[in-house]
Amino acid sequence: MENIIIRGGESLSGQIPISGAKNSALPLMATTLLTKENITLRNVPALDDIISMRDLLKGLGSEVLGDLKKGGAELTLNTNSIKDTEAPYELVRKMRASVLVLGPLLARCGHARVSLPGGCAIGNRPVDIHLSGLEQMGVSIDLKGGYIDATIAGNRRLKGARIAFPMVSVGATENLLMAATLAQGETELINAAREPEIIDLANCLISMGAKIQGHGTDTILISGVEALNGAEHRVISDRIEIGTYAIAACITGGQIDLLGADGTFLRAVFDTLRASGAEIDENNWGLRIIGPKGKPKAIDIMTDPYPGFPTDLQAQMMAYMTRVSGASMITETIFENRFMHVPELRRMGADINVHNSTALVRGVSNLKGAPVMATDLRASVSLVLAGLAADGVTEISRIYHLDRGYEDLVGKLVGCGAHIKRI
Ligand code: UD1
Repeated sequence: MENIIIRGGESLSGQIPISGAKNSALPLMATTLLTKENITLRNVPALDDIISMRDLLKGLGSEVLGDLKKGGAELTLNTNSIKDTEAPYELVRKMRASVLVLGPLLARCGHARVSLPGGCAIGNRPVDIHLSGLEQMGVSIDLKGGYIDATIAGNRRLKGARIAFPMVSVGATENLLMAATLAQGETELINAAREPEIIDLANCLISMGAKIQGHGTDTILISGVEALNGAEHRVISDRIEIGTYAIAACITGGQIDLLGADGTFLRAVFDTLRASGAEIDENNWGLRIIGPKGKPKAIDIMTDPYPGFPTDLQAQMMAYMTRVSGASMITETIFENRFMHVPELRRMGADINVHNSTALVRGVSNLKGAPVMATDLRASVSLVLAGLAADGVTEISRIYHLDRGYEDLVGKLVGCGAHIKRI
């Protein structure tokens, strides 16, 4: 198994090209199930999660042309006919976003069998909101043997419905949005997620001929159509990757240019980084991040659905807070178990106290390199950030989590002068 070794203490300086957003590309790939025509996606990142989704779609009968490569791939997906409607446990277990094929499969074929994702490192993460929304659209759901067996009752077309989500869910909004494009009549999604990835998905669906209004707000209106056509679409830039490298510049007191980065969707994150003393300049080529001169100031954050502070940047921000002057507070409101990185950061000398969903982080003068273990995607990268700022050598094990969501992480950091390698 591979590990990452970091010799910390270097101020990072250089340029990092930003990849396409994983969390946009995954639902966009699932849209191929809604049409017989070609969907061409550009700026697709080369990540293990994308490979998992490609394998899942191929198993369902999709043809996928194009190879993943650093710097963004062009993939053409075609699902002229669906040969299987089952998403098996082996794939769903590896990647929870596999459940995004449920809505499209139902809309296209009237039936789907998708493994229940089960829990994961950061929390219980049920799919009850997805299922209840589909039931309101006329789907009968049977849970047996660890699988969701879903069939459209009566006829083979979903019925439009007024669905009020009990809480904001990105995945449920995406699943229902895709399903509703081919439903009979109008669907209204109330308390919908407003994430930029939802807007990206809706824009692609609109170019496929879907009738959607209100995406980007908490109420989305969809008028179902009989069929969707092919489309070409460019995946938006990955705001979590942007935020991660922005924090890398801040935690090392360096300066990094993020090429192709769009800062529009990172207001909450940039406000926090600026409050800590960082400078962030938005240019036509991307973003320049200049870390604070001297000791950064303490900052408090609370995670929230978009436009709030993203939970996917909470662990990285915690690594940064270990280095600031004074005490900072983090409140995690999205996932109940998203502090798995805390014991590992403590091994590096961080002073963190957790009480339920709140963490109090007192800045220390130095982090010290140590052997640590990655537990999930974002927790892993927080250890990389801590290692970059720590004195001495940090060795991170179980780094396969990083390959799920960061394209060429080591190469991009080496390009900015970091002493980091995979062994
Ligand atoms: C997506 C992102 C993930 C991000 C998360 C929150 C993708 C592929 N993943 O995950 O990176 O951390 O949004 O921004 O886009 N919930 C339920 N029942 C449900 C669905 C969700 O209780 O049926 C709960 C979850 O357990 C969680 C909260 O709702 O506590 C938000 O989850 P959700 O927005 O659905 O996250 P994902 O779509 O899984």
